[in-house]
Amino acid sequence: MLVRAYQTDSESELLPDLVGPAAFLFAASFETVANALTWSLFLLAQHPHIMAELYDELNQILAGEAPTISQLDQLPFLEATIKESLRILPPVPITYRAARRDTELDGVAIRSGDRVLCSQYVTQHLPELFSEPNRFDPRRWSSIQPGAYEYFPFGAGPRCCLGYTLGMTVMKVSLAMILQSFRLSVTPETRIDRLVKLTMSPKRGISMHIHKPDRKFEAVPVSGNIHEMVDLKQTNFHNSYFPQFQYGKSQFPRSASADRDAA
Ligand code: HEM
Repeated sequence: MLVRAYQTDSESELLPDLVGPAAFLFAASFETVANALTWSLFLLAQHPHIMAELYDELNQILAGEAPTISQLDQLPFLEATIKESLRILPPVPITYRAARRDTELDGVAIRSGDRVLCSQYVTQHLPELFSEPNRFDPRRWSSIQPGAYEYFPFGAGPRCCLGYTLGMTVMKVSLAMILQSFRLSVTPETRIDRLVKLTMSPKRGISMHIHKPDRKFEAVPVSGNIHEMVDLKQTNFHNSYFPQFQYGKSQFPRSASADRDAA
């Protein structure tokens, strides 16, 4: 598509115009989804009660099969789990904007051309917006509806993510398939530190064990600065009763696509 859009026969002219967008698309689509999935699998493995509830929802609706598009809407706890994972460990933790004119933001003077950093990570960990922000709690999404600039893992405004729907769908289908087929557990004593570049990833990956789906979910001790970002109490699953998740509105806050369409 890009080659056809660029009407030239000269390879030297063509290459720079292709390489930039191709590399950007790769980072924007592959890196983000890969990190989101990695963090989600880690968070689920370390929260056995949540994993058990999600496993039951998946089995009840999908019975071991791949989800159809219409079934994706019948998995509210899966959606809430992904939203909570993108809140607590956003794959894109920081974005920048350049001011087009002199202005003022909460008493701070900003001159034309200044770069302003907007952090998903910092905002989505503010206790005034999300109670107990370091707690991985998908159930919170049954009672909160943050604004587009309070929760923005896919960015906000006219330059928000183009791949929001695709990204969410890939995550839902991947998690539904992986979690029905296997039980994943983190290798005990793994060190997990964040690496922040364009995206936020675990510095050395995350070593995990793959088991048959026996529902014996278990958290293990881990080290590293992951503990600054997520409360990880080692609670294991003992078949305790947890009330069924009640889900309210089944959409992301009016963010991303709505703002983009309005722009
Ligand atoms: C979990 C998955 C994803 C996350 C968390 C994510 C996050 C983001 C964020 C935060 C931005 C805005 C950057 C800014 O404001 O400067 C963005 C932009 C963008 N994303 Fe995604 N993204 C994801 C998946 C995807 C996928 C699957 C695609 C493509 C198929 C994609 C394509 C893009 C593109 C092209 C832009 C630039 C839009 C523009 O500048 O107008 N993203 N993404």
